Amino acid sequence: MKKVYLETFGCQMNVSDSERVATSLAANGFEITPNEDSADVVLINTCSVREKAEHKLYTRVGQVRNSRRVKPVIGVMGCVAQLEGETLFDKISGIDLVIGTKAVGRVADAIGKVFDGDREVSDLGERERDYDWSVADAQRHSPYVAFVPIIEGCNKFCTYCIVPFSRGREVSLPASTIIRNVLELRRQGVKEIHLIGQNVNSYRPQSDSGMELFRGSTPFSRLLRAVAATGIERIKFNTSFPRDFHPDIIDAINEHENLCNWVHLPVQSGSDRVLRRMKRGHTIDSYFKKIDRLKDSARDVALTTDIIVGFPGETLADFEETKRAVEYCGFDSAYIFKYSPRPGTPAYEMQDDVSLGEKKLRFLELEQVQKRTQRQRLQRYIGKNVQVLAEKTSTRNAGDITGHSTCHKLVNFRGSNDLIGNLIDVRIREIKANSLFGEVC
Ligand code: 5AD
Ligand code: SF4
Repeated sequence: MKKVYLETFGCQMNVSDSERVATSLAANGFEITPNEDSADVVLINTCSVREKAEHKLYTRVGQVRNSRRVKPVIGVMGCVAQLEGETLFDKISGIDLVIGTKAVGRVADAIGKVFDGDREVSDLGERERDYDWSVADAQRHSPYVAFVPIIEGCNKFCTYCIVPFSRGREVSLPASTIIRNVLELRRQGVKEIHLIGQNVNSYRPQSDSGMELFRGSTPFSRLLRAVAATGIERIKFNTSFPRDFHPDIIDAINEHENLCNWVHLPVQSGSDRVLRRMKRGHTIDSYFKKIDRLKDSARDVALTTDIIVGFPGETLADFEETKRAVEYCGFDSAYIFKYSPRPGTPAYEMQDDVSLGEKKLRFLELEQVQKRTQRQRLQRYIGKNVQVLAEKTSTRNAGDITGHSTCHKLVNFRGSNDLIGNLIDVRIREIKANSLFGEVC
């Protein structure tokens, strides 16, 4: 039996793609191995959102090629594969296989061709009509948490972003397929699902099959109510697009306990001038209004975000506005990125006039502002009880269990292994830099 080692970079959609690839390979007679050294095939699932992520591929292929006497079959999947296509064979020596983002259902066929003697096999074709979106129990990244794609691709074309090119246009899965998947996951003992997509709240399926009985102001809020009705314990969703973030999403969260109290809403910048150049489709005031509404909600809804510093033309005054926005919003956490020019995007044609040194300074300064506001913001959890899904023993301390709260905080607490897989009420005692610490109530 040929052994396949799968390595994944990037977002949850890549993790989810890898899980489905592993599922289909296992069904086609391959063994999925956690051990790279004995693998016959090494598949690298790539990310191209920032240049750094892309460099990792170059480094990794070199390492795999040089670490063994007999080179394994090396395959590249994901966004870099889709964007670079067959040119990868010339750019990086040792690659045998290139699989685009929509061809993940045919990886077994492509590997078979390489073993039959074909060289430089590529598949950048479209997704099959009857593509199977389900993941076998054994191939999930966690026995208790599952990613459920609801929409793929992106139509927004923010000027800095490569995703619309690497993942194509938005295509929403039928609600009936999503609900069937969720019910099956629940039957398998999964406690928490993440409805995933580049912009989940732009969900717009071709028919309302599967959500006929559920009301809502947008297809996404109807889907949320339909998924809530499956009775699965916890439902999280990300990423949300600010312009399409309808207040009815908050109403749905307030109506259904199993819709988790966490929203990831990337603001990207606090300056209207920069937001316009990014073509984000929202102003900072319209963003503030949405989060004011979120913060007024009956449930305490955690808010997280993404921010880019050093976008072309970002002045110090623009940057000050981003700092002000971070202070105003009080994010529970924020991912901050230095702008990275991506060939093929509209922003690539703009002058990348903020120096790398200045980007670093802005990054560190904004990080300080976020850390300070975050520390203050998280104080609200001290002495409070949060429900935590006990996921595994802590890597730092064998006596601790680690998991996530409904508000998607990483929470550690003292406890024994038999708690794993259960929902535990934990009283928060301490706020750490990137996690909370508590004790079982
Ligand atoms: N440079 C830096 N950050 C980027 N992101 C997307 N494209 C770029 C880029 N070219 C960030 C955005 C997005 C997150 C997933 O990655 O903040 O929300
Ligand atoms: Fe990229 Fe903008 Fe689409 Fe998000 S919404 S994937 S940032 S183009």
